[in-house]
Amino acid sequence: MKYIVGIDIGTSGTKTVLFDECGKKIASHTVEYPLYQPKNGWAEQEPADWWRASYESCKAVITESGVSPADIAGVGLSGQMHGLVMLDENGDVLRRSIIWCDGRTGEECELIKELIGHDRLIEITANPALTGFTASKIMWVKRHEPEIFDKCKKILLPKDYVRFMLTGEAATDVSDASGMQLMNIGKRCWSEEVCEKLGIDTSLLAKLYESPEVSGYVTEEASRLTGLAVGTPVVAGAGDNAAAAVGMGVVCDGKAFTTIGTSGVVFAHTDKMSIDPAGRAHTFCCAVPGCWHVMGVTQAAGLSLRWLRDTVCSDEVEKAEESGVDPYVIMDSEAEKSTIGASKLLFLPYLMGERTPHLDPNARGAFVGLSAIHTRGDMIRAVMEGVCYSQADSLSVLREMNTDVSSMLVCGGGGKSPLWRQMLSDVYGIPCSRIESDEGPALGAAILAMVGAGIYPSVEEACDAVVKLRDTVEPDGERHKQYECYYDIYKKLYSHLKEDFATMAKL
Ligand code: XUL
Repeated sequence: MKYIVGIDIGTSGTKTVLFDECGKKIASHTVEYPLYQPKNGWAEQEPADWWRASYESCKAVITESGVSPADIAGVGLSGQMHGLVMLDENGDVLRRSIIWCDGRTGEECELIKELIGHDRLIEITANPALTGFTASKIMWVKRHEPEIFDKCKKILLPKDYVRFMLTGEAATDVSDASGMQLMNIGKRCWSEEVCEKLGIDTSLLAKLYESPEVSGYVTEEASRLTGLAVGTPVVAGAGDNAAAAVGMGVVCDGKAFTTIGTSGVVFAHTDKMSIDPAGRAHTFCCAVPGCWHVMGVTQAAGLSLRWLRDTVCSDEVEKAEESGVDPYVIMDSEAEKSTIGASKLLFLPYLMGERTPHLDPNARGAFVGLSAIHTRGDMIRAVMEGVCYSQADSLSVLREMNTDVSSMLVCGGGGKSPLWRQMLSDVYGIPCSRIESDEGPALGAAILAMVGAGIYPSVEEACDAVVKLRDTVEPDGERHKQYECYYDIYKKLYSHLKEDFATMAKL
């Protein structure tokens, strides 16, 4: 029996899972690390934390499982997208990484638009200039920290920094690189035109691979730290969303999924490239060679509920500690006591600005309709419903793009909550299913490594063999109608508040 390691470099932690060649989980280990928010709307992480978490978790799964490193046929990487890692000529990190949910680059997005032209930018990179994407982060460093930019010899994404430490190779894959906004998405290569206009030398960029291709081999130093055998192949892997898609078998037309993780994503596979001319949804290369995906992003999905847990729900956290359960289970039962519409309380989950459909880094969260009658349970429910409404916004943009969404899967930490899954199904008005495995992007990364290691001939065939459906929740027509009333109000609230958000950002 051969084994495969999938490493997912997330925002709250890195999760490493050892699978057998049939996709059965043998051991899993997660190491957490901090998120730094030096200013309102800024978000940074330390690349050294990602590497430490990766090698510690890798060593832990190998030790715990007792599997011989010689039987590990490959490693797959997945990770949070868009984060900017800058290395100097010695391969040392020059500054903390500015990560995906950082919104400081509004001015740089305007500059990118001016330099390339809005329409041309969408034509080449399939997306408008966004603060979340890496190009604007590079431009920010160039403008605000020119001494760092001058020393920069390599630009990597979060999971690609881990690859660099594992193999010594500066490489990336087309799905993750799509989110840098420096690629020609139709042609699946770096865009000379975009890089030249932005003054970013293409020699700074990593070598591009399709996701299942082998990108390098574990070095001696990395072997000592991880416990992997020297020479173990590491495949290109994928951005977390593209990897999650593979882990759920969303690898052909008609299939889609919703993640409720730190961020929320609504993702659909497409064999033909399709672009939203208004740029509200992202079009990226996907991890299936030669295919694409479209997706909408809620910046703060699980992050909104975590924020509520940490700021408001100390009683629930205490109760959870006493009874030895997850605080979110107690929060769910409080939310269950509330009613549809959270007793007429709405929540806008724009704690880290918003992408789909508003593309507004200045947007901020809001409870609307608070009354003295409201309980913490109402607030918890309002947050969960607000995230569902935001994801319904993404789904409707994908539908406007004529994307075929015939089946919807749900994943991510929030997807484990039966209440949240039912809510999503009721708000969307369509069935929502889960697959057997909870390993998401780590499984997707491992499936890509199975293909790279020659265990399966293609991503589609690997998914057929590995991915199994677990259960489905059906929408309730009556509840859907009730949610529609609240969703209609939710949709209007952003436009009522938009100008005030912009004014507040300037204060
Ligand atoms: C996708 C995005 C997020 C991060 C989170 O565009 O920004 O989903 O990948 O990990």
